Amino acid sequence: MEKKLGIGIDLGTTNLLVYVQGNGIIFNEPSVVAFDIETGEVIAAGEDAFSMIGKTHKKIRVSRPLREGVISDMDAAKALLRHVFERVQNMRDFKNSKCLICCPSEITQIEREAMKQLAIEMGINDVFIEEEIKAGAIGSGVDIYTANATMVIDIGGGTTDVGVLSLGDVVLSQSIRVAGNYIDQEIVKYVHKTHNLVIGQRTAERVKMEISTLLDEEEEKFIRVSGRDLVSGLPSATKISSKEVRKILLPVFDEIVNVVYSVLEITPPELSADIVDNGIIVNGGGALIPGIKDYIEDMVHLPVKISESPLTDVVEGTKVLLKNRGNYLINPTD
Ligand SMILES: Nc1ncnc2c1ncn2[C@@H]1O[C@H](COP(=O)(O)OP(=O)(O)OP(=O)(O)O)[C@@H](O)[C@H]1O
Ligand SMILES: [Mg+2]
Repeated sequence: MEKKLGIGIDLGTTNLLVYVQGNGIIFNEPSVVAFDIETGEVIAAGEDAFSMIGKTHKKIRVSRPLREGVISDMDAAKALLRHVFERVQNMRDFKNSKCLICCPSEITQIEREAMKQLAIEMGINDVFIEEEIKAGAIGSGVDIYTANATMVIDIGGGTTDVGVLSLGDVVLSQSIRVAGNYIDQEIVKYVHKTHNLVIGQRTAERVKMEISTLLDEEEEKFIRVSGRDLVSGLPSATKISSKEVRKILLPVFDEIVNVVYSVLEITPPELSADIVDNGIIVNGGGALIPGIKDYIEDMVHLPVKISESPLTDVVEGTKVLLKNRGNYLINPTD
């Protein structure tokens, strides 16, 4: 039988990751595209386009194709995927390949078809779509192919997905638009209200990445942020503490834990029994917030494990899913 090259794609709200069999992860950059408004041409994608956010003039449009887990700019989504496919094309002849695209669970059938169509237009005829929670579970080391259920919480940029997996698929899941980007917005609002300073979303994200914690620690960390003073209108700076950020995080994590409760409430009893033993695994970028394990364990009284590679689990999972779809070209451990 002819061997097919496998391509695995994690199209996230914040990050786009692409795996090519035999080449490993070839793309791991922000899901951002910059267009020349006049010609419609893509002038930058990924990291380069990300650095343009909030700093463009009127001839450039910078777009994130996904917002809150759904595709909000189809042209940008297509342009980004085309950019990646072109990169693969320069590297390998991918005519006879299979392509797995992992999408947020809330994506519509029309959007699924559009994604598929794009890969087909690029010359790939075997395209399939999977839910990112499934790929993420596999990538974080869960053997989902047994009759032994596990719960997964994926705290991404746009959405937090909570799912129960058993016998190779998602049995039930719920999603909430409360995740990394929402936390950033809450930080912007807080700094606006409490420090009279208008900061950008990228600055807020930096605050989150550098000093956020759910731990009630004695020792405080501080970060200096700059923006525009609300009163004088002039550029200005202030200092924010980890205690302040924790205050912002607690209600956000309460909302996330409420989704966990509501999924547990509708989980069939045999599966609940498995979750008591197997516990919950947390992945997605939000899993990197210190103290999250203890926080969730205290709230739901179940064992919680934080994935060791929360940002790459979904794309790692595509290796296995691609392998399971018929024969594959090269050992998936590449
Ligand atoms: N060290 C960190 N501490 C806190 N948050 C982090 C850290 N590193 C990354 N993040 C956040 O994680 C989010 C990105 O995570 P991830 O790549 O899993 O999202 P995504 O897959 O693109 O989004 P989605 O799955 O919602 O479509 C961003 O909001 C980012 O700010
Ligand atoms: Mg994701």
